[in-house]
Amino acid sequence: MSPHVTDRYCVFGNPVAHSKSPFIHAAFAAQTDEQIEYTAIAAPLDNFAGAWREFVAQGGRGANVTIPFKEEAFRLCDTISSRARRAGAVNTLLLGKNGLTYGDTTDGIGLVRDLARQGVKLTGARILVLGAGGAVRGVLEPLLAETPASLHIANRTAEKAARLARDFADLGAITGGGFKDVTGGFDLVINGTSASLSGELPPLPDGLFATDATAYDMMYGAEPTVFLCWAGARGARPLDGLGMLVEQAAESFFQWRGKRPDTAAVMATLRESL
Ligand code: ATR
Repeated sequence: MSPHVTDRYCVFGNPVAHSKSPFIHAAFAAQTDEQIEYTAIAAPLDNFAGAWREFVAQGGRGANVTIPFKEEAFRLCDTISSRARRAGAVNTLLLGKNGLTYGDTTDGIGLVRDLARQGVKLTGARILVLGAGGAVRGVLEPLLAETPASLHIANRTAEKAARLARDFADLGAITGGGFKDVTGGFDLVINGTSASLSGELPPLPDGLFATDATAYDMMYGAEPTVFLCWAGARGARPLDGLGMLVEQAAESFFQWRGKRPDTAAVMATLRESL
C-alpha cells in the first residue's frame, strides 16, 4: 500500500505572517472533509518562481498568491484563465496532472459573490469604482459581466482610470477619469484605492450616493475604514472586504478540490477574531 500523502497548498506573500488564508482553508477543509495541508510561505522578493518550483517539488498542488507576487505569478503560468489574463494578475495557482502550472484570479468573482450574498443588486446599477491599480483591474471583468447600467472609475491619477476603462471598453458601459469630475447618484461605490491603509479618504462630493446605496471597501479591519465611516454618515450601507476575502478563498478551494465550502460560518468566526 502506498503511504498516504497529504496534498499541500499555501499562500505566498511577503510579508505573509498576518494572512488569514491558512485559517480559512483549514476551516474549508474541515467542513468538506478534504485532507489538505495549507501554510503561509514568505517567498523571497527576487525569486517567486523559484519558491513555487520548490513548493511543487515538495508536494505542493496549488497556492494562493498575494502582495507583492500577483503579477509575477501571472508571468510564470503555463496556461491562464481569460479573466486572469484581463486582470494581468494571478491569485490562484494550480498544478495540473501534466505538471503544468495553471493560473486564475478569483478576487473579482469573490467580490461579486459577496455583494450577491449581501443582497446588493449589480444588474442595472450605477457603479463607481475608486482607484485604478491592480486591485481594481482584477475585479472589473466580473463586475461588468453582471451588466450594470454604468461603471465609472475615478482615480487620483486620472489618466490611469481612463486607460483602464479603455482596456475593458469591449465588455460594457465603462468610463474613467479623475476625482474632481465625479458626479453623484451612484447605487454602489467600491473603494479599491489603498488610501484606507493610511487612513486617508479620496476627495468625494457629498451627493455621491443614490437612495439605498451601498459603499463597499475592499479593505477590512476591526474598525470601519474612513471611507466606510464617511459613507455611512451620508446614508449609504457600509460593507467591508472581509466577505470578498472569504469568497475568493472559496473559489480557489473549489478549483483545487471541486467542492464549495460554506462561507458564512467562516466569515462569522473571522469577524469575531478581528
Ligand atoms: P493595488 O494592487 O492595491 O491596487 P496599486 O496598484 O499600487 O495597488 O494601486 C493603488 C491605488 O490606490 C491607485 O489607484 C492609487 O492612485 P494613483 O494611481 O493615483 O497612485 C490609489 N491611492 C493610493 N493612495 C491614495 C490616496 N491617498 N488617495 C487616493 N488614492 C490613493
